[in-house]
Amino acid sequence: MSETTDERTARDRISFLRTLRAFRSFRPDPVPQEIIDDILEVARWSGSASNKQPWEILVVRERDTLRSLSSVEGYAGHLAGAPLGIVLIMAGDRAEQETYDEGRLAERIMLAAHAHGIGSSIGWIVGSGRDAAKELLGIPQEKVVRTAISLGYPDEGARRSSAGRGQARKPLGRIVHEERYG
Ligand SMILES: Cc1cc2nc3c(=O)[nH]c(=O)nc-3n(C[C@H](O)[C@H](O)[C@H](O)COP(=O)(O)O)c2cc1C
Repeated sequence: MSETTDERTARDRISFLRTLRAFRSFRPDPVPQEIIDDILEVARWSGSASNKQPWEILVVRERDTLRSLSSVEGYAGHLAGAPLGIVLIMAGDRAEQETYDEGRLAERIMLAAHAHGIGSSIGWIVGSGRDAAKELLGIPQEKVVRTAISLGYPDEGARRSSAGRGQARKPLGRIVHEERYG
């Protein structure tokens, strides 16, 4: 039996979701403004606890700023070679809800970028890096700055050489339970 249009659409969408990967090496080409606008529009529509939308989004294109941000304490070294960085600024009012909201926001930004063939990776800023990032970017002290996302067109050479490395997943049999745990 041949696949219906609905089935093909579902298969394409599932494939799109399943193939989101972290990319940390980018070509220098800038990300076009229309694509950035699209990503931000998707981000704006993320769901959040009690619909508080406890976020602001900082778009960084300046090479020097990205380089400085890449060197604060944390794991966002990939920002140094990215043409674009998106820093998530959380309100800092309700830690538990906002941490969850931030994860959703980050994932949506990455998926919207993926839809345009733009690779991305989360970079976490930790410890002294959080104050350093706020100082660097002029962000008020009371805000939470933890997530910086690198974005850009994937460097195909780097993509090929890292294909399959460190991207394994646990099989469903190890993580899914039916009706009762165990
Ligand atoms: C909450 C969270 C924090 C992460 N922090 C970092 C990070 O600081 N630096 C980094 O390079 N990748 C970071 N990643 C990306 C993960 O390393 C990556 O998603 C994981 O290794 C699986 O690889 P894949 O997404 O390419 O399949 C983070 C991912 C999540 C969900």
